[in-house]
Amino acid sequence: MSIKKIAIAIDGPAGAGKSSISKVVANKLHYLYIDTGAMYRAVTWAVLHEHLDVHNQKAVERLLKTLDLAMEATETGCKVYIRGEDVTEFLRQPKINDNVSIIASYKGVRQYLVERQQAMAEVGGVILDGRDIGSVVLPKAELKIYLTASVEARAKRRWLEVQGTPNELPLEAIQRSVTERDEMDKNRKESPLVQVAEAILVDSSDMTFDETVTHILSLVEERVNCE
Ligand code: DC
Repeated sequence: MSIKKIAIAIDGPAGAGKSSISKVVANKLHYLYIDTGAMYRAVTWAVLHEHLDVHNQKAVERLLKTLDLAMEATETGCKVYIRGEDVTEFLRQPKINDNVSIIASYKGVRQYLVERQQAMAEVGGVILDGRDIGSVVLPKAELKIYLTASVEARAKRRWLEVQGTPNELPLEAIQRSVTERDEMDKNRKESPLVQVAEAILVDSSDMTFDETVTHILSLVEERVNCE
């Protein structure tokens, strides 16, 4: 018997664990996982790498035509290539965190990336995580989840993640950065972060990583059984 493969949209604020959880859920289901935040981060990396002014929307949008952005799904997540160069390892740097919400607010950037995301999702059996997946990228997704946690819990998780790495920062700085990104992502004009009416709210503030994965897998199972 073949089990129906569905499209899953996971949206939510920065640091809610969307990427790490989506990756594990996708592996367990043998689904394709697409980290759309990594695509916005890769564009931001290219803008900084070319020393463009992040506030110059026209220059940023002109750059898109030359990027040749490509994604590769691997066992450990998504790799992102710009003009054939694997830039994945640069995408979590604080300077990217500080600028990515500005780049993600530009209409041309969003159009360029949304087109690519929709084309990749056509294969079915996919999990996409981001801010506008349920609202814009996959409005027909069979399962939509809004994954969130308190700002304190999200900052603490990010802080633990970056301990001992070159991206290490004090907890207060991380909490400030997470709060600022939340504000920008929720209040921008183009595709702001919203919980769409049909999305199931998962608040993981008091859940462990494994509990969140198990809960999401049970939501997928329920949804697949209804199909
Ligand atoms: O999920 P993340 O932290 O890697 O996302 C990085 C930034 O990209 C985030 O500040 C908002 C933006 N983003 C977006 O606007 N739309 C998406 N689908 C994914 C990310």
